[in-house]
Amino acid sequence: MKILSLKAREILDSRGNPTVEVELKTQKGEFVSGAPSGASTGIHEAVELRDGGARRGGLGVLKAIKNIEEIIAPKIEGKEISSQEEIDGLMLELDGTDNKSKLGANAIVAVSMAACRALAAEKNIPLYQFINELFNQKREQPLSLPSPCFNVINGGAHAGNDLDVQEFMVVPQASSFAENLEIGAEVYRELKNALKNKMGPSAVNVGDEGGFAPSLEYPEEALDIILEASEKKGLRQKIKFILDVAASQFFEEGKYKTKMGAFGGEDFADYYCDLISKYPIIGIEDPFAEDDFGSWTILKSKLSDFGTIIVGDDLTVTNPERIKMAADKKSCDAIILKINQIGTITEALASAELAKRLGWKIIVSHRSGETGDDFIADLAVGIGAEFIKSGAPARGERAAKYNRLLKIESKIRQ
Ligand code: PGA
Ligand code: ZN
Repeated sequence: MKILSLKAREILDSRGNPTVEVELKTQKGEFVSGAPSGASTGIHEAVELRDGGARRGGLGVLKAIKNIEEIIAPKIEGKEISSQEEIDGLMLELDGTDNKSKLGANAIVAVSMAACRALAAEKNIPLYQFINELFNQKREQPLSLPSPCFNVINGGAHAGNDLDVQEFMVVPQASSFAENLEIGAEVYRELKNALKNKMGPSAVNVGDEGGFAPSLEYPEEALDIILEASEKKGLRQKIKFILDVAASQFFEEGKYKTKMGAFGGEDFADYYCDLISKYPIIGIEDPFAEDDFGSWTILKSKLSDFGTIIVGDDLTVTNPERIKMAADKKSCDAIILKINQIGTITEALASAELAKRLGWKIIVSHRSGETGDDFIADLAVGIGAEFIKSGAPARGERAAKYNRLLKIESKIRQ
């Protein structure tokens, strides 16, 4: 594939912050991708390059754009690029750091995604199929639709309320993606009514990922009201929960400082076991801080009989080295897969392959700051991820991913 040109521009993400958009041209057309951006970012993630200074609150990405146009583009424009590994390897070489701090993971990820789209077009196949072929070089993986996890109540760093837990996700249990999406949207709509009736109109204001951000304090209150709304629609038995606690956000001086008081690791693990015994919770993401491996291991051994998955996000940051550490310490048995945590498609696929080899589950994930790019829908199908999380079944940038999955499902099942 011959690269005709590579350009980048500063666009807005879903929070109104600047982010990188890339436009890559080949003879097959113009391929566009946008870099997402986290708010509860893990300290072990690849570096998102921001300009600093006074302009745009220091959040400008002009340096990252300059790196694309002045460092990456001259190396690939007019050249033949034959594979994803080749373009990703070239960027890794140009960057030369362990954490992408020279070029910026936000610069690299947008180019990697746009190139992936272009390579798929070169073969005249859909993006999900191209990703599946890339992944199948490492293992045999049939195409399959992920179960969606809908973040219907937002807390933590994503909302202006007092909930410590960042995400209360509803995971419908139907057999097709389309049915799951319908159930998720139904619960979301009824939850809006329930919150408004109980707490007044301001309870249905939304957080960064489109879930409601009511002024609740305790996880039980959020879970109860979601169950109540589901019951009203006859959907109570058709949903389970996954929680993203994002516990690094409230870990201070060796304690988990919550509205329920300050917990040590083992006590907090007991609290989770109690919660799981009362509610249909099938997964807990980031139950502890990103370097508190010991507490993760305690919870994993306590939960061995429950079948609840323990999901690394800030702990594992889509990085094979961190995933190996977590495996050695028996800290979790599932990962969040976010391309921008590591920077390139090639490395993200290596993390996915490692997770699969370990027998772990994968949740492909958006970021709280998103663009309209629906790349992760194809990624989830291509690697046969068990789950995808893309926020609430509402808001354009969240719905874009779910709607793309509807389309893929109808094509695969034709
Ligand atoms: P972030 O949150 O995109 O703000 O990091 C998402 C998550 O923690 O899963
Ligand atoms: Zn998370």
